[in-house]
Amino acid sequence: MSNRARVPRYQVADPMAFDRRHVLHPYTSPTDPLPVYQVQSARGVRLKLEDGRELIDGMSSWWAAIHGYNHPSLNRAVHGQLRRMSHVMFGGITHRPAVELAARLLNMAPAGLEQVFFCDSGSVAVEVAIKMAFQFWRGRGGKRRDTLLTIRGGYHGDTFAAMSVCDPVTGMHGLFRGLLREQLFAPRPGPAFGGVWNERSVAGFERLLMAHSERVAAVILEPIVQGAGGMWLYSPRYLQRVRQLCDREGVLLILDEIATGFGRTGKLFACEHAAVAPDILCLGKALTGGYVSLAATLATERVTAGIAAGRPGTFMHGPTFMANPLACAVAVASIDLLLSSPWERRVRRIEAQLTQELAPCRDLPEVADVRVLGAIGVVETRRPVDVAALQRAFVERGVWIRPFGKLVYLMPPYLINSRDLGRLTAAVVDVLGVMPNDAERSRLNRLPRSDSSNTRTLSRK
Ligand SMILES: Cc1ncc(COP(=O)(O)O)c(C=O)c1O
Repeated sequence: MSNRARVPRYQVADPMAFDRRHVLHPYTSPTDPLPVYQVQSARGVRLKLEDGRELIDGMSSWWAAIHGYNHPSLNRAVHGQLRRMSHVMFGGITHRPAVELAARLLNMAPAGLEQVFFCDSGSVAVEVAIKMAFQFWRGRGGKRRDTLLTIRGGYHGDTFAAMSVCDPVTGMHGLFRGLLREQLFAPRPGPAFGGVWNERSVAGFERLLMAHSERVAAVILEPIVQGAGGMWLYSPRYLQRVRQLCDREGVLLILDEIATGFGRTGKLFACEHAAVAPDILCLGKALTGGYVSLAATLATERVTAGIAAGRPGTFMHGPTFMANPLACAVAVASIDLLLSSPWERRVRRIEAQLTQELAPCRDLPEVADVRVLGAIGVVETRRPVDVAALQRAFVERGVWIRPFGKLVYLMPPYLINSRDLGRLTAAVVDVLGVMPNDAERSRLNRLPRSDSSNTRTLSRK
């Protein structure tokens, strides 16, 4: 090979320019993307930008970094495992981190779940759950059950089966019409969390389930908190009724706790608000404390026995990086850290502060609603926000908050102190207070291109 051939075609003289041209980011134009900020390091609840600015993190990297960043216990777990092995295939092999993690998950999960399937990401955990449900019914023979029933306003990931059960309006159904399987959608769940129960709230769900129960393999939904589909918080009573109706009609219930799991709503799992257990449970995001991608699908023995009873008698899934030891080791450390911390007290304190300090948003003309549960604070605006302009305004105020659609929301790491949380809530009140101010908007729009406003995006999460 000549020296000439070894000269790399691309060099990174300017990382931001290279990123803009060659690295694709989520939910933004490949050719004219929304601006990004280069993070150099992260520690505790602070992200440090390349230019030296420090931002208080209000997002926990999309629900994941519940202990903040660069945590000594989690670092130790990664380093320790790295010395032993970073990865080994899971076919025909097992290892301590996977077994320890499975035991911890089964100990903490709702009753009845007995088996764990590890996979790479939340979307894949949802695919696995759906496949389990379909294989379960195939294993039993009889009439085919090939349809899923879900509720409007949900979000379950970006792979194709997961997309098919995302909200048909805010999800990507229009874009992929003809490519997605058509599923059944009940109305958005109600009433709001804390609202007065009315049996009519579940009537639409019940009618749909009864009309199609013979072809529905499973009901799938996010318990109590619908995340990226609209950040909607609904009554535990609704979830209880769904469980009862699934039992009555003989349909499996899949709960997607990928966003809500590991304490975020004030309970270890959101379904505990309703004292309800699923047949299949999806976990991800905070499972590794946000360190690396790992997800898990848990099932009852009834489900797995049903799969085993059919042909070929095996569960047909097996990712290359299944139960990655590094990921499992850090997940074990993250769970131990969570359970040995005063997480409930911390989440309750965050909830009280979010409730008090986001309340002034209700008086802002641009704000339609404010909702808080556990360590989740949501401000819904009347119009979709200008993501880049708001993002910049937040960064100017020293905080990292990523809005989408009509939603500006906070879900900080649990160990955030009240001063830092106060800076996050003050930034939300402040920025939304100036949001309708066209002078501010045009000032932001006049800034250099790479940092200015651009609203063309299918932004979510
Ligand atoms: C409830 C829920 N399910 C599934 C997913 C998909 O997870 P991932 O992005 O890891 O594929 C998400 C991600 O936001 C989610 O919030």
